[in-house]
Amino acid sequence: MQVEIVELENRSPNEKKKLGTYGFIKGASQFVIGITRKSKYVKEEFGYIFEKLILDFSKHGFGTCWLGGTFNRANYAKTVNIEDNEHILCLSPIGIPADSRRLADKLIRRAIKAKNRKKWDALFFEDSFSNPLTEIYAGKYAIPLEMVRLAPSAGNKQPWRILKEKDKNIFHFYWIIGKNMNYNKLHKVDMGIAVCHFDLTVKELGLKGNWKIKHDIPLKIEEYKYVITWEG
Ligand SMILES: Cc1cc2nc3c(=O)[nH]c(=O)nc-3n(C[C@H](O)[C@H](O)[C@H](O)COP(=O)(O)O)c2cc1C
Repeated sequence: MQVEIVELENRSPNEKKKLGTYGFIKGASQFVIGITRKSKYVKEEFGYIFEKLILDFSKHGFGTCWLGGTFNRANYAKTVNIEDNEHILCLSPIGIPADSRRLADKLIRRAIKAKNRKKWDALFFEDSFSNPLTEIYAGKYAIPLEMVRLAPSAGNKQPWRILKEKDKNIFHFYWIIGKNMNYNKLHKVDMGIAVCHFDLTVKELGLKGNWKIKHDIPLKIEEYKYVITWEG
């Protein structure tokens, strides 16, 4: 994968309009653009790396917004060095956040319930997806899991489902297939973001462990897509 920063400041108003984000983003003249080539796990890896970059920009006070759908891919492709076998997976404006949200922004956020996050009992489980994991039982892993719960996701679908092994610090990461294909296509990216949040938090807390992709999938259920396991 490759990341390019594009400056739109000196481009003509017509060109800027073509590069619009259908009104979702206003006034930003710098964009960070993520370019990928087809390969196994590229979306998950991209999610991890791009989120780390976004968190870094946020740390320095910049406003960002993951965009995976509401921009014109073909027009943005003309602004970056892109080969035939590459494509723009996601991008984000980098700017100074406005003091208040515009009406359109408020309406969209209300429609997709952007402020809300699912509760613990819908996301985190022990041994089976019918047995929710409580914050108390998660112990020192409650904070890394909470950071997954607060992660951004396409359409705020929060597709992550995490299964802890009983009496072990082993966490299997899955995503659940939803009804909307456009969002399903981005769930591997969402998983990379979730893994990034979990990974950065366990490291910050000094909790030791390793990531492994299991070949014999821990719990095989049709609508749950297994991604990776963290073994503490
Ligand atoms: C992979 C990904 C793709 C996204 N694509 C879009 C998009 O195309 N347009 C948009 O307005 N927001 C997009 N978002 C932002 C989400 O809608 C937003 O993160 C979610 O609603 C939660 O809101 P919050 O991040 O403000 O908490 C995307 C987020 C992710 C993680």
